[in-house]
This record gives sequence, structure tokens and C-alpha cells, in this order.
Amino acid sequence: MSTITDTDNRQQVQRQSREALGEDLAAYIDTCLTQPNPAGQLIAVLHKVQDKFGYLAPETMDAVAQLLQVPSAKVTGVASFYHFFRLQPRGKYMIRVCLGTACYVKGAESLADRFTSELGVKFGETTGDGLFSLEGSRCLGTCGLAPVMMVDEEVHGNVTPDDVPVILQKYLKQAREK
Ligand code: FES
Repeated sequence: MSTITDTDNRQQVQRQSREALGEDLAAYIDTCLTQPNPAGQLIAVLHKVQDKFGYLAPETMDAVAQLLQVPSAKVTGVASFYHFFRLQPRGKYMIRVCLGTACYVKGAESLADRFTSELGVKFGETTGDGLFSLEGSRCLGTCGLAPVMMVDEEVHGNVTPDDVPVILQKYLKQAREK
């Protein structure tokens, strides 16, 4: 009679994790494991996962934890700490608030706070109606217009917190008309 050993279980989990991420990402993590500090590659790995799937789902984060051999809590902690990681599927409109230095000194933080309160989501999340995803961004390259934010490819400059509901209304209206 055959018995299921820890090794069998571990191999099965590894196999499922490789399937969840796909062989390209699994091979990338294999390469990371040959580096002196594989866990130090976690952010780079998560970027690649987000590029491929559009966001970081719980099951893909678990797969990263298994293959990179880091605790799941560390993976989810890093994913939720950084503004540039998305934890839910992308909404119809992607809002990016620039958190670069020039925008920061011109009030990007209060702008960001207004977006989170108006939309009722945190950075990295999507509204329940699937319309808006909210992200922080590095410098968008238009510092002269700080503070700057984008909705998809449209740049909005010199934005004040009170402009936020007006901007959102514009896209809500657009979504209703389509
Ligand atoms: S810092 Fe915001 S556009 Fe450059």
C-alpha cells in the first residue's frame, strides 16, 4: 500500500504553484533561487506576475510564496504595502495618482486621500461596480503640472482635492452613455 509522504505533498504543491503562474514565471523564480538572496527578488517577481495577470490574486501570491520559499504573509504584506500593486482585477477606468516628489510637495497626498474617500477603495483596489481602479504612480513625467493624475491615458494637471468629484463625475457620465 502506498502512503502519501510530506515529499509527495510538497511536490504536488510545487506542481500546482508552477501551473498557477505558468512556466515562464516559474522559470524566472527558478533563476531567482540561484541568487544569493532569493527573497530580495520578491518585488521584481510580483511586478512580473502583475504584468502577466493584470493584478495579484490570492492564489498567484500563494504560488509565489511556495516557489520563492518565502512566507505567504510576507508576500501579501509586500503586495498590500506598495501602491503600485493591484489586488483586484482592473476596473473600466484606471486612475493613477502621481506620488513622485514634485507632486508630493504640491499636495498629492491630500489628492490621494480624496480619491480613496470618494471611491471608497484603497490604492490597489477596484470599486464594487467595476468602474474605477485606483493606483499610486511614480513620476508621470509632467512635473510642471503637479499635482498630476491620469485616468487611463488622459492626463489631469494642477488637480485639487475638490476637482476629484468633478473628474469622477465626468467618467461616470461617460460610462453611462456607452
Ligand atoms: S512627480 Fe508627479 S509628474 Fe513628476
